[in-house]
Amino acid sequence: MISARMSRPAKVLLVFGATMAVAVLSAACGTEKISVPKSSAAYAGAVLFSQRCGGCHTLSYAATHGSAANIRTRLVTNGPNFNARCERPAIRVLYAIENGGFSGAYMPQNIVVGKQAREIADFVARYAGRQAPLEPNVERCTQKSKDLLPLTGSIPELSSSASSSS
Ligand code: HEC
Repeated sequence: MISARMSRPAKVLLVFGATMAVAVLSAACGTEKISVPKSSAAYAGAVLFSQRCGGCHTLSYAATHGSAANIRTRLVTNGPNFNARCERPAIRVLYAIENGGFSGAYMPQNIVVGKQAREIADFVARYAGRQAPLEPNVERCTQKSKDLLPLTGSIPELSSSASSSS
């Protein structure tokens, strides 16, 4: 391919181009992808989670790594790691989204609202806690009710408290 008749700049360009192609291809190999099947009802929630929540929360099914990996370098905005932490039922996740976590101090409120918030809450309730270590006498996350949210319509507990405060 590199013939003796090629000019020196052409050779340099060719070698550089080939090196870049290898670099781009090998970089793509290590990229973690969303592992929820596209056909699943939770896929939309996984995509939204990776875009809106991934900066502060780890959850392998959405390919995110936002939780603190090292206690010495952690930031106050590093949220819980949902690989290990069970988040059920889905209404708890929706509460966290609306209120910015349970303390309301570090996580921004209402990053997503409406149908998107419900889709994320459903996804988190289904997939969080799957890599939690087995502990004696502690109920597994999968044994707790996911209590998934209807994707449309009002949610009685939340809408009644919202209307009484206004
Ligand atoms: C800026 C960083 C940040 C973003 C973005 C973020 N979170 Fe959080 N999240 C946190 C922190 C920090 C906590 C711990 C909150 C606390 O202690 O008050 C938390 C807590 C939670 C909790 C557990 C409730 C609690 O307080 O323990 C859930 C569930 C949660 N987040 C879900 C989400 C979802 C879903 C999204 C995306 C819509 C999201 N978070 C986006 C930082 C973030």
